[in-house]
Amino acid sequence: MNPKLRVGICGWGNVATGLFEQLTKPSNEQAFELVCIGARRDNPNCDPGDVTIHRDIFEVIEQDIDVLIELIGGTDTARDLISNALNAGKHVVTANKAVMYEHGNELINLAIKNNVHLMFEAAVCAGTPIIKMLSNDLGANQVTKISGMLNGTTNYILSKMEQGIAYEVALEEAKEKGYAEPDPCLDINGTDAAHKIGILASLALNSDLPAGNFHIEGIEKITAEDFNYADEFNLTIKHLAVTKQAGDEIELRSHPVLIDKNSSLGGLSGVRNGIQIDTDLLGEFLIAGSGAGRESTASGLISDLIALSKHASSTPMHYPHFKDMSKIKSFESLDFSYYVYLEVQDQAGVLALVSQIFSDNEISIDKIVQKDHLPDGKVPVVVFTDLIKESQMQKALENFSAQSEIHSAKIIRIET
Ligand SMILES: NC(=O)c1ccc[n+]([C@@H]2O[C@H](COP(=O)([O-])OP(=O)(O)OC[C@H]3O[C@@H](n4cnc5c(N)ncnc54)[C@H](OP(=O)(O)O)[C@@H]3O)[C@@H](O)[C@H]2O)c1
Repeated sequence: MNPKLRVGICGWGNVATGLFEQLTKPSNEQAFELVCIGARRDNPNCDPGDVTIHRDIFEVIEQDIDVLIELIGGTDTARDLISNALNAGKHVVTANKAVMYEHGNELINLAIKNNVHLMFEAAVCAGTPIIKMLSNDLGANQVTKISGMLNGTTNYILSKMEQGIAYEVALEEAKEKGYAEPDPCLDINGTDAAHKIGILASLALNSDLPAGNFHIEGIEKITAEDFNYADEFNLTIKHLAVTKQAGDEIELRSHPVLIDKNSSLGGLSGVRNGIQIDTDLLGEFLIAGSGAGRESTASGLISDLIALSKHASSTPMHYPHFKDMSKIKSFESLDFSYYVYLEVQDQAGVLALVSQIFSDNEISIDKIVQKDHLPDGKVPVVVFTDLIKESQMQKALENFSAQSEIHSAKIIRIET
């Protein structure tokens, strides 16, 4: 029988509580010994029993442990903690996508240099298996595209909004259920999903960590009306992050989309994450599962501990071969169809003005919907366009904002 893996946890919040509950179950106690916890304060939701608590999380590195589990979140202190642990010859397991995105290149190289392992399954989609699958199981494949709903909180909120529940209520529920990040702004504004797709791009396409600048947009502007219009055409709204090999460039983006309700990603609701992967040998396939929450994240963390206990002296996962400067394809050059929501003055000639702006920018209209009335003499006009370049749509938005009769304009890209 293998000796027990000796483990120290840093951070004593939501995810650490879930991990503690699982590690103290008899089945896991046979394989792992929880030696200590680094926590700057007590956790009102969890009694650590006999496990030693260190108020200085860096003291955990000095204990007789094989693996440090970093669960503090954030980038600066987490980077120092992980670097120091790797330099001290400890393996590290982390659920922290922000630190892996910002410093993954440096930290992975440090692990290799020190002949230890840095594992991060729970950093993308919590327990839904994707990291070790991309790095190990798909080794024979060339991955050409990954499209993912990678943020459980935004999918939870959007699914609730689709059922008629207000955005603020849904966000509070996501926080109460422990799905939201320590800073929920990172969920809502698309950054968390952007970090995750950046990490997946590094594993699948060997791109840099951090990636160069790419388009990141959140769900803040999505309203109940958008769902109503989408529903008329059997569409729904999701937050999607995409990476794709495009010649010698890499497409990377993280933003809301309109998507067919019956598509494999469009049908996933609640806290579920879904990732569609296209490869040369396997073709297209989908993985879906819970992408946030303490149980799901504990599942991902323990899968890394199991991999370490089986392979600590060999290779539990394969790391990316980072390219020096992976070029990100310009977002303006990408092609989309668009849903355009305009609030215009209810007066003669405005529809003609709207049509003229589309025509001036060589944008052909697929459908146009005008029905409800708004207060203050305004009406909404909804336009679905044919496939055009992002740069054409940006020019049209500039033209709309210059017209006094057009009060606001918003777009959502349509993912086919
Ligand atoms: N929540 C999820 O569903 C989920 C899913 C996958 C991955 N993750 C990742 O898991 C990590 C932890 O998330 P969480 O939801 O458990 O967050 P959390 O509930 O806010 O817990 C964070 C813990 O770290 C401690 N901490 C933060 N900064 C520290 C510092 N500088 N020094 C010492 N202690 C510090 C906090 O202590 P104080 O209470 O004293 O601030 C708290 O105990 C994050 O990287 C997150 O992205 C979360």
